[in-house]
Amino acid sequence: MTHAIEVTEHGGSDVLAWVEKSVGTPGPGQVRIKSTAIGLNFIDVYFRSGLYPNETPFIPGKEGAGVIMELGEGVTNVAVGDRVAYCSLMGTYAEELIADSGFLAKLPDGISDEVGASIMLKGLTAHYLLHLTYPLKKGETILFHAAAGGVGLIACQWAKLIGATVIGTVGSPEKAELAKANGCDHTILYRDEDFVEKVKEITGGKGVDVVYDSIGKDTFNQSLDCLKKRGMMVSFGNATGPVAVPNLGILAAKGALYVCRPTLFTYIDTPEAFVENCDVLFGMVESGKIDITIGQKFALKDAAKAHDALEGRATIGSTVLIP
Ligand SMILES: NC(=O)c1ccc[n+]([C@@H]2O[C@H](COP(=O)([O-])OP(=O)(O)OC[C@H]3O[C@@H](n4cnc5c(N)ncnc54)[C@H](OP(=O)(O)O)[C@@H]3O)[C@@H](O)[C@H]2O)c1
Repeated sequence: MTHAIEVTEHGGSDVLAWVEKSVGTPGPGQVRIKSTAIGLNFIDVYFRSGLYPNETPFIPGKEGAGVIMELGEGVTNVAVGDRVAYCSLMGTYAEELIADSGFLAKLPDGISDEVGASIMLKGLTAHYLLHLTYPLKKGETILFHAAAGGVGLIACQWAKLIGATVIGTVGSPEKAELAKANGCDHTILYRDEDFVEKVKEITGGKGVDVVYDSIGKDTFNQSLDCLKKRGMMVSFGNATGPVAVPNLGILAAKGALYVCRPTLFTYIDTPEAFVENCDVLFGMVESGKIDITIGQKFALKDAAKAHDALEGRATIGSTVLIP
């Protein structure tokens, strides 16, 4: 018997229960993994609360790293003892799990299990947002909300490396310091300051080329006001609730704007795309071009405390759960 966190019914963090589980043996094309580190993500909150549908009971978690313990029939891309990381499954809040072998990335020696568990979902997201959703170019200016968060700290460093001017919103002066040390040229304390006004001031009234908005309902409309004419709004999360589709006339009135609502899993939907994207990300992290901040760690059985911290805006960078 092993242990896992189970969402017994949708709700607050109190529905996260520590339970005994029998993992079973891997089927054809699958492997059994002993988990060593688990990445915490806001999407775990959406599934727990029921904002994103999933039948209960279920084991939450989409990101993690571990060691291969057993191979199912026909698995050739990994071997017993390999260190791997993953983000394309549901159920990583567990001491052991069964996973499809096609969506496992072997971790290079220069990337620890904890860093691996922190970058699969968050780092691959930063990569596709900046390179695939909107191929950001040197000299452009972006606004990135929650710049000191898990995705934010990685994305702001990456955007700076591309040569963009990076404006980041943050919830506290401490987060502003961290965001500045991780690629932000300018930070805005959006709990106290009008971020539209500040963006206008910083860009000389022009607006930014792209806004990356994961805050959702509370910031969507103001984020549109930060864009230059024909700018791109990338709405990629719902920390304050989902965004209703606006009257498209608003986009015309505010300057013929583009809006996109991307998801990571549409960019890594085949094993080939997954591996290709992981190779780019691992190269950036192993070479030291992108530094990963693990701001806090919790025991897996304390996952509820980790969810409270994430939802309470009390975390910085990535958060890891240790089984
Ligand atoms: N579409 C995709 O493919 C994709 C993939 C990965 C992540 N995401 C999204 O990206 C966002 C960031 O994910 P993450 O896991 O890295 O989380 P995170 O950024 O570490 O945490 C969320 C941050 O959002 C800010 N926030 C503002 N208002 C908030 C509120 N009412 N409640 C909670 N947080 C609030 C907080 O930062 P401040 O205190 O600085 O405001 C908080 O730290 C999430 O919305 C997630 O869903 C989307």
